[in-house]
Amino acid sequence: MSATAPEIESVLHEERSFAPSPAFAASANFNGERLAALRAHAAADHEGFWAAQARTQLCWQQPFGQTLDDSHAPLYRWFGGGRLNASVNCLDRHLPTRAQDTAIIFERDDGEVQRWTYAALHEEVCRLGNALRLLGIGKGDRVVLYLPMGVQAVIAMQACARIGAVHSAVFGGFSAESLKDRIEDAGASVVITADAAPRGGKRVELKATVDRALSAGCGSVEHVLVFQRLDGCAMQAGRDLWWQTLVPQQATHCEPEWVESEHPLFLLYTSGSTGKPKGVQHSTAGYLLGATVTMQWVFDLQPGDVFWCTADIGWITGHSYVAYGPLANAATQVIFEGVPTWPDGERFWRMIAAHKVSIFYTAPTAIRSLMRLGDELPARHDLSSLRLLGSVGEPINPAAWLWYQRVIGGGRCPVVDTWWQTETGAIMIAPVPGAMPTKPGSCTLPLPGICAEIVDEDGHPLSKPGHGGLLVVGKPWPSMLSTIWGDDARYCSTYFGRFGKTIYVAGDGAQRDEDGYFWILGRIDDVLNVSGHRLGTAEVESALVAHPRVTEAAVVGRSHPVKGEAILAFVVVNGAREAAIAAGLAQELCQWVATQLGAIARPDEVRIVEQLPKTRSGKIMRRLLRSIGRGEAVTQDVSTLENPAIIEQLRGEPAFGA
Ligand code: WTA
Repeated sequence: MSATAPEIESVLHEERSFAPSPAFAASANFNGERLAALRAHAAADHEGFWAAQARTQLCWQQPFGQTLDDSHAPLYRWFGGGRLNASVNCLDRHLPTRAQDTAIIFERDDGEVQRWTYAALHEEVCRLGNALRLLGIGKGDRVVLYLPMGVQAVIAMQACARIGAVHSAVFGGFSAESLKDRIEDAGASVVITADAAPRGGKRVELKATVDRALSAGCGSVEHVLVFQRLDGCAMQAGRDLWWQTLVPQQATHCEPEWVESEHPLFLLYTSGSTGKPKGVQHSTAGYLLGATVTMQWVFDLQPGDVFWCTADIGWITGHSYVAYGPLANAATQVIFEGVPTWPDGERFWRMIAAHKVSIFYTAPTAIRSLMRLGDELPARHDLSSLRLLGSVGEPINPAAWLWYQRVIGGGRCPVVDTWWQTETGAIMIAPVPGAMPTKPGSCTLPLPGICAEIVDEDGHPLSKPGHGGLLVVGKPWPSMLSTIWGDDARYCSTYFGRFGKTIYVAGDGAQRDEDGYFWILGRIDDVLNVSGHRLGTAEVESALVAHPRVTEAAVVGRSHPVKGEAILAFVVVNGAREAAIAAGLAQELCQWVATQLGAIARPDEVRIVEQLPKTRSGKIMRRLLRSIGRGEAVTQDVSTLENPAIIEQLRGEPAFGA
């Protein structure tokens, strides 16, 4: 396993522990006793536990017969024989009692606020479902969503679910090229997008990017449905349709498509250790169950709460804790179009006060960037509505955790650090806040029914505290991915190739302390986590070598005070190196990657070097590059390097005494 970054080192020395206040514990969904009962049930009867959850938490058109079919393991099938509809679970089932309750408080970039009741949301979802059916979309057809953060993104997901179509959301920051790859891999016949979107006072083009993606391929796409958010865009006759024209004409009744439990609800592309992003496929029943119960267990959701998850709809967190989990629980939630630092660094705090947010869920990168602006900004706002804080996406360093707890939570709100992944569908390791103490930097314990463990390189459980190993999950769980879209073999080898078909390998390193609490050490594969966004080093490398001047590239992460990790690229170019440096090629390559993959993949720095360090067998010495990226001493054997002076170049130090 790779050496740990200094920030993570400090995490491992953290010893403070915070018990929930008696007031919080007394009114929480789960106190110690209730949680112990849940855990005991799960430990005694894994399948029976999940079957009981599925029966009581979801509403079924036809009950399931078999809880778990493992005859084709690791292709596990949950709740066989059952039929349901996710949008009925998120909307229709609340209508008899909650129709006029607020489902969504949507705050636009410019500060305008819209409220959507469950009845209004249901109507618009039905209208869009009918519109999609009119365009020929039915059960199993794929619809790509390239939408800004907003109510329409939730409506689009729910409408797809209603008619049994499979949505595949692509984050609005991804480039035309990335969008094209995802549309083609999914074989989507419709793309839903917006003309453009305001974000932090700037305009983000969306439809123009879709046009570029489609002009480069995407033969499967028949229609593009465009929500007009700003002042419009060019439309291609016969192919493109306006949401505002088509959708209002439709009926407000839309018969749900009842689907089997394992029917794919959505695909979501995520980065792995190879160049090609994989389409993580989630089921309808198991996925929805995970999203539903974790809202109650981890977020302690109760009537009267106002929940706000700041994640974009293009990521898994935006799926489970914006589009599905809150609605399945009939919650009231805030959705925000903009960014935390615009028009100023008080935006989040102002919104929490204005909407009386009680549960707030965000990413360490946002916490760190707001923390740097000082304590006075949050102090100007009444944050007393908050009762619980959450964190997700990357390890949270104790300093940021403690600031969040003290300054934002006023010392009274438990902080839930939640570990999970696109593939796991829902939160896996996290506190149940009324029932146990938390520790800054630890995601604490696996949830009931989640058999997370730490094993050594040979797959043996590591029981001793303080020993780092691989994070695995020893039994299937309902919200796990069903497969990788169109590639069962890749699913089997990526997640179950190492220790057999019952052990899911997460790709993270972790260790436990003397209380059994889990401490995540970060990725152990070639996956970077930049501001909580997953990026494969191979993806960035293949974008770099696609540039005509680049012959070789190697990409590593280096720690960054706000982003967690930043991208550092080493490239070898054709032609004269000094001339390339003088001509500003490094900056050009940063921009090139942003254009190829999307702004989130822009390297912080590109170093043009004469050669990459390689082993005798010609493999790039990635560990050496990682040490250099982290500013550590080079301890690796470098005797095989043809040109030892290369180390200075790799370190970014001026060579040749220049
Ligand atoms: C990392 C996001 C430490 C981890 C939900 C994982 C975390 C990857 C945490 C998944 C956490 C997520 N503490 N690391 N609380 N949560 N990670 O698929 O490396 O975008 O494998 O899912 O983020 O990222 P993904």
